[in-house]
Amino acid sequence: MAGSSCALQSLRILVFCALAAAATTIAPRAMSPCAYSMSRTILAVTGLDPYFITCAGDASLSDDGADDASKKAGSGGPIVTDLRWCGKPDPLKHPAPPFQCCQPMTTSEPVNFTFPDPAEPLRTRRPAHEAGSEHMAKYRRAVALMKALPRSDPRSFYQQANVHCAYCSGAYRQAGHPELPLQIHFTWLFFPFHRAYLYFFERIAAKLLGDPGFALPFWSWDVPEGMRIPDEFADPASPLYNARRNPRHLPPKVNDLEFLDAESNYTDEQQIQRNLWVMHKQMITNARLPSLFLGQPYHAGDSAMPGAGTVELCPHNTMHLWAGDISNPNVEDMGVYYSAGRDPIFYPHHANIDRLWDAWRHIMRTTNGNQTKVDFTDPDWLDSSLLFYDEDARLVRVAVRDMLDVGKLRYTYDGVGLPWLNARPPTSPGVNSKRNHLKSVAFPVSLDVAVTVEVTRPQPPRSRQEEVLVVEGIEANNADYVKFDVYVNAMEYHKVRPGGRELAGTFVTLKQPGGERDTMKTSMRVALSELLEDLGAGRDNNIAVTLVPVRGKVRIGGLRIEYVAE
Ligand code: C2O
Repeated sequence: MAGSSCALQSLRILVFCALAAAATTIAPRAMSPCAYSMSRTILAVTGLDPYFITCAGDASLSDDGADDASKKAGSGGPIVTDLRWCGKPDPLKHPAPPFQCCQPMTTSEPVNFTFPDPAEPLRTRRPAHEAGSEHMAKYRRAVALMKALPRSDPRSFYQQANVHCAYCSGAYRQAGHPELPLQIHFTWLFFPFHRAYLYFFERIAAKLLGDPGFALPFWSWDVPEGMRIPDEFADPASPLYNARRNPRHLPPKVNDLEFLDAESNYTDEQQIQRNLWVMHKQMITNARLPSLFLGQPYHAGDSAMPGAGTVELCPHNTMHLWAGDISNPNVEDMGVYYSAGRDPIFYPHHANIDRLWDAWRHIMRTTNGNQTKVDFTDPDWLDSSLLFYDEDARLVRVAVRDMLDVGKLRYTYDGVGLPWLNARPPTSPGVNSKRNHLKSVAFPVSLDVAVTVEVTRPQPPRSRQEEVLVVEGIEANNADYVKFDVYVNAMEYHKVRPGGRELAGTFVTLKQPGGERDTMKTSMRVALSELLEDLGAGRDNNIAVTLVPVRGKVRIGGLRIEYVAE
């Protein structure tokens, strides 16, 4: 077996070399076998995994954007995607096949994104729980039509699901850096990537339906009426059904926005209240700066997963775990990146995430004035670019700067309010009593048991800046999903009421490909200004931070407080 597949591989490489040599002499544009259009053709013909054979570090291997990126390797520049830098995903135990997810190769160059015609009808995305049966029937039909397309069609449901795997499981490498997996999660690309992904998914659906105004429904798990799986997804006869979901979470079970693996025993009413507190913390308290909400900078040459924004950790990750089937090895489908897009509920889930991005920009502007920065201005963010196939199966290069304004993309959200806007969580009296008996902690520390650390607050700067607790050097085991909680001024954290104010932040990962012994290295941030005000600790010189492991192996490199302006 091994011998014959090896022989096949050698044959393919031979074919590749022959074609590459021919290409170099024949085609005027192809100065080397790495030149853009030529190697695409060859790759499309041979089916080889591009990054094993392309010319790593060769600056000629890219179109303009990628060119730039490889020149500036390690010293910044935007992240640029290139189809030829997609190969096998990183290894993962027991994936549900097929575990192979590059976007289809094409012989034509990607076209640059252009905005839709402003005369196009505005698509109104509505909440699934009240979108009405006609609207939901359209989504059902769209998914059925996508599932009926041949697997080779980039618009098929199969290929659409694979897009998520390609960008999130180590299949794509950074152009020019075969050693660096391109991972859009836990970075400032999280929101723009998913916006673009849904934008094209929606337009493909509209085209197949012959309904130019078609809009995705969204799963509004943050508002009480939407806090359960919408009924249409639970009908085994529907194309929206997926058997790989947690059987305990079928409707009318209320979703738990802090779910990891254990069922809570709250009443529906308590669960709903707690969910609203979680939303307030993640959308308001902890999200006062673009980087806190959107995620940490990720430049060309950087290693993956510098740090997620608030909403990505929770409720985004937690709702992936809540929806997936916990009895599957990697919580497939929804609970792990490579397979999440296979569940038709993924798209309404992410429409809600996208709606929260839009809501956050609006909240920031209305509470802090129109001058408030809601986007990064770093050109490396604005110029980072990703590839998608559009409704006509053309490959399109989308830059983050194209994805900032939903109005320009001709869609909007309607139908639900923001009931968590003022749901400021309550404090718990008498949870901070043991403050004088702190042992000192030597970092890095393995978080096997809860640790409490006294962290000194630096002198505040003269200008108003956000005070941020940074949990740095987090090393979380890839092979499991990992959770720890961060409490502030709550030595007796187990007495904090569920969802209470002292629970300042929650860190959650899904399983990552990369092999048993691998760890993901990342960081986490918790905003302190509103929190310390609520805890009556605004004038203290230090705070007690308690890190509480909930699941999985994790090491913490250190804790510090910094003032951040953006
Ligand atoms: Cu890209 Cu919800 O994960």
